[in-house]
Amino acid sequence: MAANDAQLTRTLSNGTEIPLVGLGVWQVQDGPECERAVEWALEEGYRLIDTAQAYGNESSVGRAIRNSGVPREEIFLTTKFYPGGRDPHAEAEKSLERLGTDYLDLYLIHWPQGGPTWAWPGMEQASEAGLTKGIGISNFSAGEIQELLKVSQIQPAVNQIQFSPFEYRAGLVEACEEAGIVAQAYSPLGTGRHLGDPVVDRIASAAGRTPAQVLIRWAMQKGLSVIPKSTHRERIQENFGVFDFELDDDSIAALDALDTTRQTSEALSRDGKWWS
Ligand code: A2P
Repeated sequence: MAANDAQLTRTLSNGTEIPLVGLGVWQVQDGPECERAVEWALEEGYRLIDTAQAYGNESSVGRAIRNSGVPREEIFLTTKFYPGGRDPHAEAEKSLERLGTDYLDLYLIHWPQGGPTWAWPGMEQASEAGLTKGIGISNFSAGEIQELLKVSQIQPAVNQIQFSPFEYRAGLVEACEEAGIVAQAYSPLGTGRHLGDPVVDRIASAAGRTPAQVLIRWAMQKGLSVIPKSTHRERIQENFGVFDFELDDDSIAALDALDTTRQTSEALSRDGKWWS
């Protein structure tokens, strides 16, 4: 992977380029906290912002994008269909109103509630109506991807999954790659839990980097787009400082060995569905 390239991207099946590092705003309060985080990220050079209908902060994301002065077309904006709703197309229109923009770059089914296929025709309608450039999924297992591919007219471009050395899900990432779907990592820091791990800390010290940078870099070197969340300016900056170093093979192997998912192809670690 080339060093010093803050605009590294992967090409999606619909032809658009998704940045390798973005800001996730899960659990960021609507209002000034969210606006500041997004504005700081855009100032820092982030060009991927990831929100969702379920987060309740799309309006703040939209305001921050407009206030930033960064042209809309330079930003890759993702939101997600809340699958407790019925109509992905109608909900996309409402998202666009809240975001104050006339298109999304990516629209994902947030999780496969009610099964992996029912919402897809509405996602395809949103795409065909020009509301979004790309459509995809989140929290789908390899089996659920297979079911979806049997009925889809448009292929899902992305599967956004919980992913870190501890939640490696190698089988699921492989299934995504085989289907031409780019995997994207949420909770790459384990929502903060993995930052104090001694193995991560040792590798960070040896590389002269921080634990957060090591975890983000590991996911990038696995080929994923990564969306760490922070509301602190210095951390938002730190989490973007991952383009000018590379983890060596020994470090990658030591991080791989932290996996607790046994290379699963499932999207979720518990037997039960986490949203129920
Ligand atoms: P905060 O938002 O207060 O900065 P994940 O991306 O895995 O969901 O992790 C997000 C959590 O990790 C948040 O609690 C966030 O806290 C914290 N976090 C994000 N970046 C860093 C960092 N560079 N150093 C320490 N904690 C961080």
